[in-house]
Amino acid sequence: MDPAFEAEALHSTGIYTKHPIAIVRGDGASVWDSAGREYIDCMAGHGVANLGHAHPAVAQAVAEQARRLITCHEAFYNDQRSAALALLASLRPGLTRVYLCNSGTEAVEGAFKFARLSTGRPGIVAAMRGFHGRTLGALSATWNKHYREPFEPLVPGFRHVPYNNVQALEQAVDDQTAAVVLEVVQGEGGVHVADPAYLAAAQRTCRERGALLIIDEVQTGLGRTGKLLAVEHFDLTPDLLCLAKSVAGGVPMGAVLIGPAVGGFAPGTHGSTFGGNPLACAACVAALQALIGERLPEQAAEKGAYLMARLREIESPLVREVRGLGLMVGIEIKQKVAPYLDALLDLGVIALPAGLTVLRLLPPLVITYPQLDRVVEALRTVLTKPLEE
Ligand SMILES: Cc1ncc(COP(=O)(O)O)c(C=O)c1O
Repeated sequence: MDPAFEAEALHSTGIYTKHPIAIVRGDGASVWDSAGREYIDCMAGHGVANLGHAHPAVAQAVAEQARRLITCHEAFYNDQRSAALALLASLRPGLTRVYLCNSGTEAVEGAFKFARLSTGRPGIVAAMRGFHGRTLGALSATWNKHYREPFEPLVPGFRHVPYNNVQALEQAVDDQTAAVVLEVVQGEGGVHVADPAYLAAAQRTCRERGALLIIDEVQTGLGRTGKLLAVEHFDLTPDLLCLAKSVAGGVPMGAVLIGPAVGGFAPGTHGSTFGGNPLACAACVAALQALIGERLPEQAAEKGAYLMARLREIESPLVREVRGLGLMVGIEIKQKVAPYLDALLDLGVIALPAGLTVLRLLPPLVITYPQLDRVVEALRTVLTKPLEE
């Protein structure tokens, strides 16, 4: 048995369901366990490793910056932070200011606080099946009661409306609504792509009623769906856009891109000790340059279309639907997905669930076509042959 199993069993919290392998190395879309076995990583750390594992440019930027300056509070200016801010502010016209933090849930918390501060209103309208994180504010916008109930009472002022239902959204937004928060593809909630008319109506309703539109691109962001930002598919310009996961090539970082309707922040109203950390910023600059330079969004669009077409060829009475956008792919099956994920792992493919019955694939965008074919063949095997007990 790997010594990591025993140590983690003894000292970690127990809040994660663990697979009995210790991952010790990665390269591109592959990872290796401590016994030397290779896996194709279609989990990518829950959608973090968009650039692939151990990307040389990110590794070099982190190593060089670690030797120069690891920490520098935002109370001072910094070369790496200013470069990261300039790049992040160029991602979507109009979203020219940026709040830097350390994770997805913190980006969402920041967006909620900025929305309340900016509008003077308390209300947040979120969508059923939406996932926005697990700190108490972000959790209040998350839909799944399994995550919410043990921690109630949550933050007041939040309500949920059905996703892709224009009428319900219009009815929910009033003069007390600070913001509507939506994912353009619901990830954790089962890989559901938004209807363009719904997103257009959300933007219009917010503008008309003085509420802000927050788009949570923590999972869809930075190439995953076939565009650098998923809002580009829908010609959407939110007031606040949340990023994390892949934004610094795997180094922990979150960011909120902020538009002109949001403002009025006095010093000290929000902040983070590690936000804008030079190490994360150096990684972010290297990651964004590589993402754009290697045309990874375009690659995600092409590879995602190929993957979904090949998955739809699998003839299995188990499969209800294959859906997604770019390399954010869900296979909804008629049974609980957990045993199928275990069977895939046995065949050397790491995937993840999205709810109880959706098998989710979030591979690095650098995954090769032969690797995609191996993933399809492994899925064909597990979805068409009876599972071993
Ligand atoms: C859409 C979305 N928002 C927020 C989060 C929370 O991000 P983190 O786990 O970095 O706090 C996630 C995580 O999966 C997510 O998918």
